[in-house]
Amino acid sequence: MAITVLVADPKSVSRQELVGLLGRDRNLEVLGDAREGNEAVEMARSLRPDLVLLDASVTAPDAVSTVENLLLASGETAVIVLIDGVNIDMVRRLMRSGARDVLVKPVAVDDLLSTIRTVHHSMARQRAAMEAGIETGGGAGNLIAVYSPQGGSGKSILAANLGVALAKALDASTQKGRVALVDLNLQFGDIDLMLNLSPDNTIAGLAQKGSIGLDAELIEQYLATHEESGLRVLPAPSSPQHAESITVYTVEQILDLMRANYAWTIVDTPSQLQDTTLAALDAATTILLVATLDLLAVHKTRVALDMLRQLYAPEKIQIVLNRANSETGITVPEVEESLGVPIRLQIPSDGRTVVPSVNEGKPFVIHNAQTAIGRRLNDFALELLGRETGSAPTTGAIKSNFLQRWFAP
Ligand SMILES: Nc1ncnc2c1ncn2[C@@H]1O[C@H](COP(=O)(O)OP(=O)(O)O)[C@@H](O)[C@H]1O
Ligand SMILES: [Mg+2]
Repeated sequence: MAITVLVADPKSVSRQELVGLLGRDRNLEVLGDAREGNEAVEMARSLRPDLVLLDASVTAPDAVSTVENLLLASGETAVIVLIDGVNIDMVRRLMRSGARDVLVKPVAVDDLLSTIRTVHHSMARQRAAMEAGIETGGGAGNLIAVYSPQGGSGKSILAANLGVALAKALDASTQKGRVALVDLNLQFGDIDLMLNLSPDNTIAGLAQKGSIGLDAELIEQYLATHEESGLRVLPAPSSPQHAESITVYTVEQILDLMRANYAWTIVDTPSQLQDTTLAALDAATTILLVATLDLLAVHKTRVALDMLRQLYAPEKIQIVLNRANSETGITVPEVEESLGVPIRLQIPSDGRTVVPSVNEGKPFVIHNAQTAIGRRLNDFALELLGRETGSAPTTGAIKSNFLQRWFAP
């Protein structure tokens, strides 16, 4: 059955262009097009389209109110908004008002069509789950998404070492194979290198199995094992061109199944907020938002935090400060003040340990467990598991003689 679409755009040229373009796809049926917000709402009320494609420049009323009114008029309709230029504040307001996705113009035709399919799939899945009385994302396990808007902030070293630390701790207590790590850096994943794995399979192979019919048993066949710890790993594609084939729908299914089957699933993400990243943040029981001690990173973290707080309960989002004792001119209390929330975990800077660990694929929570950084992450894993750590809490400050000297009055 074709996906039914309504187009709303005040500019007649781009409106006609969109209608023409969508009309050429035989999986889509354009039910109509509107100039103004209210007109679109009235049409949606009577036509009940699967999807409204709304240009953010719409007026009478503005885009945010139009999205709200569309959802009131036709609850099962999904709204995708097209905006001119990245404007995080606008994106946030649109998402808050209930838009399912926001695309920045100019949008490639392929991207537009794949977003339409993905949003439609995900709506259909939610509906099916609701009818079957199942809550989506309701698996029993914990899912920790490691996110940061800043590249190079230490997401992957944290994800890899936390996964290994949790697996090791549970392995020692005979709860073997209860921890998994998913590398959602679909273009340039590096978890396999960090853990010295040479995987036969990746998430790309799993995605090829189709978005339907994934089950836990199939996923198991695509996981590699980090032998030293027992951690199970779903690696990223070996080549960036395979990233496109992995839809948000596939990722949602994988994460649901992982949560149902693993006590702990760690998800490493890229810094771009693409739909698959958002799927991981949605599925997460905890988001570790990684910041570092520099102004730009703190600023980006604050913007990301503002957005996440609109979407999720505050306790779901926890701040990690990586390289917390770096000599940058910003202090930990200043970061906390700027973010308006306390830091949950401070990770010291230790290039001598981290760089060889990454290069050799030997996680420092095993191979340099006695270093400050090794202890920090092992302790944090035990804290998550609710056990005694025997050392200072991971929230505690890291001593930095340099900083103390530098900031002495
Ligand atoms: N705590 C740390 N101490 C020293 N170097 C670090 C630390 N955290 C990260 N790094 C360095 O930064 C690089 C990028 O980290 P990575 O985890 O790959 O970042 P991201 O995944 O956020 O892009 C690492 O390869 C390492 O060299
Ligand atoms: Mg990374």
